Amino acid sequence: MTKRILSGVQPSGKIHIGNYFGAIKQHIEMQDGNECFYMIANLHSLTTVRDKEKLNQLTLDLALDYLAFGLDPKKCTFFMQSEVPQHAECTWILSTICSMGLLERAHAWKDAQEKGKKETTVGLFTYPVLMASDILLYEPDLVPVGKDQKQHIEITRDVAQKFNSTYCETFKLPEPHIPEEVAVVPGTDGQKMSKSYGNTINVFAEEPEIKKAIMGIQTASTPLEEPMETEGCNVLALYKLMATKEEVEALKEKYRTGGFGYGNAKKTLLEKFHEYFGEFREKRIELEKNMDYVYKVLEEGNEKARAQANSVMDRVKAHTGLKIR
Ligand code: ADP
Ligand code: TRP
Repeated sequence: MTKRILSGVQPSGKIHIGNYFGAIKQHIEMQDGNECFYMIANLHSLTTVRDKEKLNQLTLDLALDYLAFGLDPKKCTFFMQSEVPQHAECTWILSTICSMGLLERAHAWKDAQEKGKKETTVGLFTYPVLMASDILLYEPDLVPVGKDQKQHIEITRDVAQKFNSTYCETFKLPEPHIPEEVAVVPGTDGQKMSKSYGNTINVFAEEPEIKKAIMGIQTASTPLEEPMETEGCNVLALYKLMATKEEVEALKEKYRTGGFGYGNAKKTLLEKFHEYFGEFREKRIELEKNMDYVYKVLEEGNEKARAQANSVMDRVKAHTGLKIR
């Protein structure tokens, strides 16, 4: 059955293979047979990116990345959050019914406070309310996200329920879609791959950067002639994401036999990376030559998104008494 899908990614850094396997790949796959809305969550990025040129560039980069990965604007609505003013409007209204306690319990907020590494702004605190608006305005059945976003979907459901019980049935409650098989992709140091840890392999980086990242993956220090442990090896874990079962088995066999070494394992991974992502990388170079197309895709998407968001906002205004006739 056709489902309504909504998701978003913040333009806050270069896309890495964790973002691809953890989020974007699912988004692209879901566009067939579903009605999908995908958003560049640039209002959320304002909590971390405070440079005009940088935010512009990251936004265009993310649009290019999605299109290169196969997002088809004929099949789904691809838009910019900031071009749909209803997101900010709805955020205010939801913030008037959302309790402080609910947001104080948000992991992202608690983390930011504890680590003291991020400036704790009001925007960072109300980040989940903006995300709730992002979702509720599109009435999705499913919101595909990584595990780290699960709590944000729960907050969205709580806020929607509170609104519905305070006023009347207005918002549809979304379900998170967190496929179990979508593992947390490990970074080059074995922690979760994340731009905040500097352990990423960026899909569209120049060749020397890719090579440096892959050859720098942390491994055990088994002597060359000895068999290598297949469990818990970062190189193998990343290889598994891109290779067939047979290819993974073949590489494991080399590990077990010994005399292979991590240098060769990394070279095998580097080749596989290019085999897997080569086509996307070429497509992105082509797309970059035609930025007018990219702007046009977004403009059309923005318009479709505004129409949808507006219909829900009308309901919100009517149900709260903001509309007088
Ligand atoms: P980062 O951790 O690099 O800042 P984001 O928080 O911007 O990445 O994540 C964007 C999307 O990519 C989210 O849906 C998130 O769940 C997914 N994602 C990010 N890193 C990983 C990872 N290492 N493994 C799986 N999914 C990931
Ligand atoms: N907070 C999400 C992230 O960091 C991005 C996002 C913003 C989002 N709005 C959304 C994801 C709505 C799903 C639905 O990854």
